[in-house]
Amino acid sequence: MLNKSLVAACAITLGTIWLTACGSSDDSGGASDDTITMGFAQVGAESGWRTANTKSIKESAAAESIDLKFSDAQQKQENQIKAIRSYIQQKVDVIAFSPVVETGWDTVLVEAKRAKIPVILTDRSVDSEDDSLYETFLGSDFVLEGERAGQWLVENAADADPNGDGKINVVQLEGTTGAAPAIDRGEGFASETKADPKIEVVASQTGDFTRDGGKKVMESFLKSQKGIDVVFAHNDDMGLGAIEAIKAAGQTPGTDIKIITVDAVKDGMTALSKGEINYIVECNPLLGPQLMDLAQKVLAGDEVPKRVVTEETAFDQEAATKVLTERQY
Ligand code: AHR
Repeated sequence: MLNKSLVAACAITLGTIWLTACGSSDDSGGASDDTITMGFAQVGAESGWRTANTKSIKESAAAESIDLKFSDAQQKQENQIKAIRSYIQQKVDVIAFSPVVETGWDTVLVEAKRAKIPVILTDRSVDSEDDSLYETFLGSDFVLEGERAGQWLVENAADADPNGDGKINVVQLEGTTGAAPAIDRGEGFASETKADPKIEVVASQTGDFTRDGGKKVMESFLKSQKGIDVVFAHNDDMGLGAIEAIKAAGQTPGTDIKIITVDAVKDGMTALSKGEINYIVECNPLLGPQLMDLAQKVLAGDEVPKRVVTEETAFDQEAATKVLTERQY
């Protein structure tokens, strides 16, 4: 494993002398091991987005010859904390993780800091007063994603009132309770849609970012709410689950009930292209290459920005149809 302070000392004192000459040698006196070891604590496998994100991280680590220790927390914070503690015990060079929820991380992050293991947040951030507990946060602007979804609804509000009763009844399928994308997308959407008093969120419940969760919550909304005009789902998978529920209730998704989602994974884009979803705000899961680059820089002692925001766009039916065949995930 690469020792960060040792490398820094070498760089300062020996200038251009081979890095391996400063590294720890193995017992046989052979070449020293300068392979970076990264411990990555993933949220789970809840969505198409997450599958693409995991693939990107594994492939990018392999491409950079980074030794990746990977764990799947099955959407449970306690599992992520256990994984991080085990990475600290194993003395990995760097820890990266995507926090399942925003709060409750300070204790374990202090433990990593005391062990002098740098931490990189990816995809989701933590809600902590002490930003010295991590080096950088790489991921999307979730508030902006929610705002984009809300803007589309405001701009297309007349169309979004299939009942024609002058009111736009929105049901919201929230992501995992306490997760940054659920909180921020909800806030962004609310801040934009308040511009139009006709728009009202009549029901909002978590579907935990899963297709099954979205389907079940939508089934119950269809029973409990009259005249649903719009679904705002915090990710594609929940929107796809809602499509199943809407069809089973004898209605046409995308026409009788408009659907707005976030992610733009292939299944979502296919549904958008078919007109079953009306608008998708992109959230890019392909964070692997940037994550590996940041890890290498942090370990080399280079300065990295505290926040790296992913660039994203949004798609209507025409735009989705254009890019569908070349969509990687
Ligand atoms: O944190 C990113 C979100 O998590 C994605 O939008 C969602 O699909 C995933 O589960």
